[in-house]
Amino acid sequence: MKKIDSFSEYKNEYKKSLDNPELFWAEKASTFQWRSKWNKVLNWDFESPIIEWFIGGKLNITENCLDRHLKSNGDKVAILWEPNDPNDSSVKITYSELHKKVCEFANVLLNHGAKKGDRICLYMPMIPELTIATLACARIGAIHSVVFAGFSAKSLADRINDSSCNILITTDGSYRGNKQICLKEIADQALVFCKTIESCIVFKRTGEEISMKSDRDFWWHDEVLKVSDFLTATEMDSEDPLFILYTSGSTGKPKGVQHNCGGYMVYAEYSFRNVFQYNENDIYWCTADIGWITGHTYIVYGPLLSGSTSVMFEGVPTFPDPGRFWEICEKYRVNIFYTAPTAIRALQAYGTSYPKKYNLSSLKTLGSVGEPINEEAWHWYNKNIGNENCSIVDTWWQTETGGILISPLSHITKTKPTYATLPLPGIQPCLVDENGDEISGNGVEGNLCIKFPWPSMIRTIYGDHKRCKNVYFSIYPGKYFTGDGCKRDNDGFYRITGRVDDVINVSGHRMGTAEVENGINEHPLVIESAVVGYPHKIKGQGIYAYIILEKNSTSVDELRMQILETVVKEIGSIAKPDKIQFVTGLPKTRSGKIMRRILRKIAEGETSNLGDTSTLLDPLVIDQIIKNST
Ligand code: WT7
Repeated sequence: MKKIDSFSEYKNEYKKSLDNPELFWAEKASTFQWRSKWNKVLNWDFESPIIEWFIGGKLNITENCLDRHLKSNGDKVAILWEPNDPNDSSVKITYSELHKKVCEFANVLLNHGAKKGDRICLYMPMIPELTIATLACARIGAIHSVVFAGFSAKSLADRINDSSCNILITTDGSYRGNKQICLKEIADQALVFCKTIESCIVFKRTGEEISMKSDRDFWWHDEVLKVSDFLTATEMDSEDPLFILYTSGSTGKPKGVQHNCGGYMVYAEYSFRNVFQYNENDIYWCTADIGWITGHTYIVYGPLLSGSTSVMFEGVPTFPDPGRFWEICEKYRVNIFYTAPTAIRALQAYGTSYPKKYNLSSLKTLGSVGEPINEEAWHWYNKNIGNENCSIVDTWWQTETGGILISPLSHITKTKPTYATLPLPGIQPCLVDENGDEISGNGVEGNLCIKFPWPSMIRTIYGDHKRCKNVYFSIYPGKYFTGDGCKRDNDGFYRITGRVDDVINVSGHRMGTAEVENGINEHPLVIESAVVGYPHKIKGQGIYAYIILEKNSTSVDELRMQILETVVKEIGSIAKPDKIQFVTGLPKTRSGKIMRRILRKIAEGETSNLGDTSTLLDPLVIDQIIKNST
């Protein structure tokens, strides 16, 4: 696929995509390998919603990620894997080796009865086998559901059950910094509640002692000995599901966002090449985890579809010391580096001595994703990592969008700190006011919607199409609503200001306040809780929990600990509140709704300008809360 190489070409392409979207995307799609071509490019209606791309087209995405590169690029390295411990050996996997390993593991899945359309859950650390297992599912047309390995047994079980997965793939354990986590034990706890899982395939990573249940649990290394390393891919319809990925929303229950084969494939490669301006011999590194959408699109699919070489990292940015990212950049001569603002801020706190120790001159493009990047972090990244000659691409997108929608194109679009700048060709953003009316012109602010479909957009919420309609397509009829607030400056550049719903963004991880509340409420002495986000120096947003305890509860310090443990058990440590305040009442309206707006202000440290409090049932509650706020 040819990429855009100047700003004037960007403008031309953008115009083409508005004038004739179908022709525009048909051209992009024709650079892929299809078993048979589509007969219609697009069918859509944002009311139902119905979104279909490349209708009737037949393909398998793994043929495009692997097989089509074999002839000319089989020996090219696809994955440069860097282990958690820098003293352990790294691993290089070429395209032809990856092809074999994917086919081999796909055969294992077939041996275990997996069929096209089955849901398979992956609960694994950042090792090459996670990529292999993901692609093996896609090879046989099974729908993968990757669950981030930091989630608890309860969260894992909920996700397995929501989409009734029949196979779970996991490892004995995982390494993260100086911690070793027994994933299999967590998986075992989850599986007690999962009736649909027939096989659990376990890759040996740490070699620790684990229990294996006969007839259910199988070692990866035993299973691959039984199969061949060749398998013809299963033919998929363009609109067959490729994967489900759970994400948080305003209500307690995570949503299984579903993406389908054809459109996702086209947009993953298109956005990867153009945003990062990927060149044939570039070394690319995205530090995300495959458990999130960034890993799906910009570690697995986008880079492999483009035939690139990418670094995959098992560990954390601060182990063995806060120079690890920069050490890896130097070691592999990384050209394109993609990370999250929270990581930048965390490393910034250790000063410039770490990046100064390493030769970072190979870097050309620095990406940012997951949350708004503050001006200070932007400049630190630009100066100390980019040496002021890299292009910083602040990429805005979501699990639901499948790929980057608003971002500079590296070294092409003028950048502006804290601005995601301009939409990619094919993307039609708009701002709306609270009445749902579109706000035209520049120098304005509103809620961010997208007016027209793009190939990798969400198709449905698995098993709950009605919820998909309600959450994204009903608030502003005829438009896809992102849940984000946004400014458009006088140059027409977009700046995302953050969520406008009850979703908070903690270290780039999306969390529903209701989800955290549900976790807290599981503690037997908690009567009620209300959770809000507040500005946090490193995490972007921290979690502030107001909690009402059972009367006569004593030893509040002990309870604080217990509540944190409850949240870790219910969700995972990413959902642990940073601050807990025990209160005797919550500010509620007469109809019983908690006024989070007020709680947010208090959490931010505001005590006087709390806005309109006239609808409060008991205004005295607020004085109490302010008096004891932390
Ligand atoms: C939410 C989506 C996209 C992959 C990682 C997160 C926020 C994402 C940016 C950015 C400001 C951003 C938004 C969005 N967000 N990127 N560059 N600037 N905010 O995916 O978990 O689905 O979360 O992350 O609020 O709605 P996600």
